[in-house]
Amino acid sequence: MAVIILTSAPGAPGVTTTALALALTWPRHVLLADCDRDPSQVVLAGYLRGMDSGGRGLPSVAQAQREGRPLDDELWLHTLPLTEDEPIERRFLAGFAQPAAVRLFDTIWSRLGEAFDVLDGRGIDVLVDAGRIGTNGLPTGLLTSADAVLAVTRSSLRSLAALRLHLPTVKDQLGGLPVDVPLAIGIVGPDQPYGTRDIEKQFGVPAWLELPLNARAAGVLTEGEPEPRRFGEQLFMGRARAQAKRLSELVQSRRATREELVGRV
Ligand SMILES: Nc1ncnc2c1ncn2[C@@H]1O[C@H](COP(=O)(O)OP(=O)(O)OP(=O)(O)O)[C@@H](O)[C@H]1O
Ligand SMILES: [Mg+2]
Repeated sequence: MAVIILTSAPGAPGVTTTALALALTWPRHVLLADCDRDPSQVVLAGYLRGMDSGGRGLPSVAQAQREGRPLDDELWLHTLPLTEDEPIERRFLAGFAQPAAVRLFDTIWSRLGEAFDVLDGRGIDVLVDAGRIGTNGLPTGLLTSADAVLAVTRSSLRSLAALRLHLPTVKDQLGGLPVDVPLAIGIVGPDQPYGTRDIEKQFGVPAWLELPLNARAAGVLTEGEPEPRRFGEQLFMGRARAQAKRLSELVQSRRATREELVGRV
């Protein structure tokens, strides 16, 4: 079980599309949390076809905090269904409804991170779309709860140059945490033109995810284009399913190793 944070350098490489594709194919119960501090409501407007969140999501989380209600118990109530009638539950925590509300979360991120940990303890994995790495990195309260951070990038020089600028901020943040949180890369469109091994070597960080470029599938996921029949069984979602399984196994095995080491101390 795991809390995984997905982020990127500037350039919109596809964090939201990747996080959504993973959430729709994840092998266990999962919550996709939109914690992007540059809010755009892409999932509500796109894949959920303009669904009205009814205020549920980070706005109602902030309200619960203001009213002193315990987030650990009620986080699930602030979420929306991503899919229906499936044995695996896939829920969505909608993001900020107003850009100005982001400031309020300075004191809420760590409470939210703790609530993610509680879900994790109940057998629900959490995929966090943290948006872009800011000048101050990512919210520390979220990083503390994470089992892994995945920096999503394209394999183009432009995208890799931006990642080179911003990845050190996250590395520094993770280095300052009392817990060991692994950092990995997720590549959207490997070999276009740089290959995964080259990128791993250049950054000294392993690639834990590779997804192909597929404009049609991305259109369905984030542009609200009509979902073709058997979309979930098509090539792109098949790849996403295989990658979701691999990623969840990698994170779990890292976590098991960490727990074993802690147990020995
Ligand atoms: N695997 C993919 N294949 C083709 N196009 C993609 C893929 N993933 C994302 N895209 C496209 O790239 C654009 C940016 O995607 P997305 O919104 O997921 O990026 P982002 O990194 O979350 O951006 P932002 O920084 O704005 O939040 C969209 O037009 C999306 O359809
Ligand atoms: Mg996004």
